[in-house]
Amino acid sequence: MVGRRDLRVRDGNRSGGHATTRVMTAGDGIGAAVPADRAALLAALAWQVDIGADEAVADTPTDWSRPASHPMTVPVAENAGRSVDPGAGPAVPGGHPREIAPRAQAADGLMRPDQAAAPRTQGLQARIGETRERLGRVANLVALAESLDAYDGCTLKYTATNLVFSDGNPNARVMIVGEAPGEDEDRQGKPFVGPSGRLLDRMLAAIGLDRKTVYITNILPWRPPGNRNPTLAEIAVCQPFVERHIELAAPDCLLLLGATAARTLLGRTDGVMRLRGRWHAYRAPRRDIPVPTLATFHPAYLLRTPGQKRAAWHDLRMLKRRLS
Ligand code: URA
Repeated sequence: MVGRRDLRVRDGNRSGGHATTRVMTAGDGIGAAVPADRAALLAALAWQVDIGADEAVADTPTDWSRPASHPMTVPVAENAGRSVDPGAGPAVPGGHPREIAPRAQAADGLMRPDQAAAPRTQGLQARIGETRERLGRVANLVALAESLDAYDGCTLKYTATNLVFSDGNPNARVMIVGEAPGEDEDRQGKPFVGPSGRLLDRMLAAIGLDRKTVYITNILPWRPPGNRNPTLAEIAVCQPFVERHIELAAPDCLLLLGATAARTLLGRTDGVMRLRGRWHAYRAPRRDIPVPTLATFHPAYLLRTPGQKRAAWHDLRMLKRRLS
């Protein structure tokens, strides 16, 4: 029922799972009015298919442009594994109304652990601060991997089969950061070895790169069970590790794959649609010099939404130009 229901938009990143991340109103981007004629209805439907909306999830539409009681304010633990991703960005070219939600809400959230937090997150913030400080004394990547392996602060560790630390060349000029391991990665202990990894390899080959010339990691080193979306708390407690990882690898530039990597490292609540296609400056906590950073679509998203490959190709060419 186009125009009548909320739709589930697939934007998750892990292969094989149902990493649904946001719910949008069917009328988003096409105006509130339901198109009257058949051609307009078909065009609206095609548009929704293009953006990855593949399921009606509610009978009544939600007005995401209303800031009040936004899911972003839901405490992290309560939000675990749900289909709504707090702070989810645009699902449509031109932006999703949810981005209009006041930035203060996002800035209070766990995306920015160093900012003032609600009392119930203060213990978490303190732990994250301690981890960040301790990791500042970790001197190399081997020690960082050991530290991560010994870290008990993220419960994903207990459901995962393997720690997935990195792959590729730690001395490479390009460091790629994805979201979290999927089933294949969990089994093999290496990032991007499943279907999205195979697409990533093809994307890299198109600009003359491969695993000898890039270094690859994820925001989360353990697979979320059943490939569910990681919670903001899981992301927040692992963030100091990926930050230190980047400091120690010291790449010339970063390529962030998908919304989780882009939002976490750029400290933004926008979706990839907004963040891609231009250079950002990533500031590591202990480095003065910002790292030029490009965000683009996650390969798993591209597998489901091939219509966006052209935009991803544009981003890859930007990366190639910077390297040459
Ligand atoms: N998706 C990711 O984000 N990372 C992986 O390692 C595999 C799939």
